Amino acid sequence: MTDVSARRVLVLNGPNLGRLGSREPDVYGATTFADLVADCEKTGAELGLDVEVRQTDDEAELVHWLHEAADGKIPVVLNPAAFTHYSYALRDACSQRTAPLIEIHLTNPATREEFRHTSVVAGVATGTIAGFGADSYRLALRAITSLTA
Ligand code: DQA
Repeated sequence: MTDVSARRVLVLNGPNLGRLGSREPDVYGATTFADLVADCEKTGAELGLDVEVRQTDDEAELVHWLHEAADGKIPVVLNPAAFTHYSYALRDACSQRTAPLIEIHLTNPATREEFRHTSVVAGVATGTIAGFGADSYRLALRAITSLTA
């Protein structure tokens, strides 16, 4: 778990997160996905990380990206979105991790509808950061920095 490849980090996002900005702004805020990507890249540059941000609505694609991270010993910041709550395929992919994996959420699912209180990913993640909006991503990148120092 200590043999982490050179400061590369994948920031992976699940379904509907590409619609940030127009998606339920009262819940998710006005920050667009493009803003979020720019912000992660900026934070990454400040921390000396080579950050690549991806988003998909497709469970299989997200699973394949997690395999890529496991094979490359690449740390992951993962917002699994709705897959958080029911995707055992995603959990099984996360549990193959070979480097830190931080589960993140913009909102705090524990304060929302009951179905959001379960995360099938949390038990195989290094840790979880939730409820800080776009700051959840920044905090996770900082956590990756200290975990891989
Ligand atoms: C989310 C929370 C999930 O419950 C929801 O399905 C999302 C976004 C968040 O970032 O707050 O799509 O992961």
